[in-house]
Amino acid sequence: MWLGALLFSASVILNISLLWNHKYFGFDRSYLEENLSWSRRAALEAEAVASVNCSGHGRAYLDGTSSEEDDHAEKWKLPVCECNTCYGGSDCSQFFHDCAADVDSGDPLFLEPFWMKHAASSAVLVTGWHRMSYSFPDKSSVSQELEKHIRRMHAVAKNAITHDKYIIFGGGSTQLLGAAVYALSMNLSSPASVVAATPFYPLYEVQTEFFQTVRFEFDGDASALKKYADNVIEFVTSPNNPDGNLRRPVSNGTPIYDHAYYWPHFTAIPAPSDQDLMIFTLSKLTGHAGSRFGWAFVKDKEVYDRMTRYISLAEMGISREAQLRALQLVKAILRSDNNGAEIFDFGMGKMRDRWRRLNDVVSLSTRFTLQKIPVRFCNFFQKLREPSPAYAWVKCEREEDGNCTSVLRAANIIGRAGSVFNAEDRYVRLSLLKSDDDFDLLVYRLRQLIVDEGVDPKII
Ligand SMILES: Cc1ncc(COP(=O)(O)O)c(C=O)c1O
Repeated sequence: MWLGALLFSASVILNISLLWNHKYFGFDRSYLEENLSWSRRAALEAEAVASVNCSGHGRAYLDGTSSEEDDHAEKWKLPVCECNTCYGGSDCSQFFHDCAADVDSGDPLFLEPFWMKHAASSAVLVTGWHRMSYSFPDKSSVSQELEKHIRRMHAVAKNAITHDKYIIFGGGSTQLLGAAVYALSMNLSSPASVVAATPFYPLYEVQTEFFQTVRFEFDGDASALKKYADNVIEFVTSPNNPDGNLRRPVSNGTPIYDHAYYWPHFTAIPAPSDQDLMIFTLSKLTGHAGSRFGWAFVKDKEVYDRMTRYISLAEMGISREAQLRALQLVKAILRSDNNGAEIFDFGMGKMRDRWRRLNDVVSLSTRFTLQKIPVRFCNFFQKLREPSPAYAWVKCEREEDGNCTSVLRAANIIGRAGSVFNAEDRYVRLSLLKSDDDFDLLVYRLRQLIVDEGVDPKII
């Protein structure tokens, strides 16, 4: 009798524990931990590739080219290292001394160390049969789970009011910028003038002109418009690329808020943005520019429908793999330390330190100046905070240095010319977003340039 009672209790306990595991992990976790089957190979392969030693100056990737020596059928063909700029050799240990500091592109590699620290929570394994269908069960092409997590992310960052707006996913924010111009221009009675205040992100002009229709055309600098020009669509980039300043519209047109950099990494967040059309991107939030994933919040149903139709005709919704990866990354952020604030602490700290280091060097020069960004109160950090912009907008002050890009190029620094942003070539943009290697080399080359100007190297 007592044996029966014992067996009954044991079975109840086992069932409760299985139920508990099922409820919280959706499966019998301990059993699977010991008995992984088909996923084991993928996990081993991912870890083998991650362990390829590139001396801290490069990375090996699962889809990288494999080395010849490992070409045995029974062995994995481990991919070769892809080295950071100015590093080479099979393990990236070789530094090329004469190599230029390439700070042209806005590649957000500064966040790579954050993801290496969060390797476990950010990894995702994709089954061979993952979401093969054109649509989700609700017939949409949008992951509801991702939508929910993105809204939570904004609530943590305190950078946008999202509850009263529709959300649209795009192939990077690049695609959504085009979709927004298309959708807004359909609302207007005559062809739209698409504008942005100088200096502006060049894609607005290039893309609008490339996809120009009878409904809209690019019309240049917003500040040059007559105050009450009709049928204007204005790109408002806040914070701005290239100069990092928060912006408001300068025309009375319909604004498209490009909030690619409206995250605590790059700017104080004075208040959550509550605009009718706001565009964000994974590229500058998590650094995953290669995943090509962005989203827009839209207040007006008609504009939302038109933008959705644009995306649907362009590519029938965004890749399910990109959505899955974005979901895993956003989840990893939300589960990280400090109630999901860790990435902002990391990002802001890194960008602020870079800005300080750059200022320390450039402030000794009379030949170059940097843009001014005010110290502001940040709603996210709940304090006044220093600037931490994504780019330096450098001005060459000497009369004869009319082409600042050439001045820097002669000093082995590759920046992006002011004229690319519709500004004077006396300005040049330097990206502060790239890897530590890129930034360190930039500071080193700038220091050399300033020593050549006659500044005592001991004080730099
Ligand atoms: C202001 C601005 N908007 C949009 C983008 C495009 O980003 P995405 O990678 O989402 O296409 C960039 C990229 O650098 C940018 O600087």
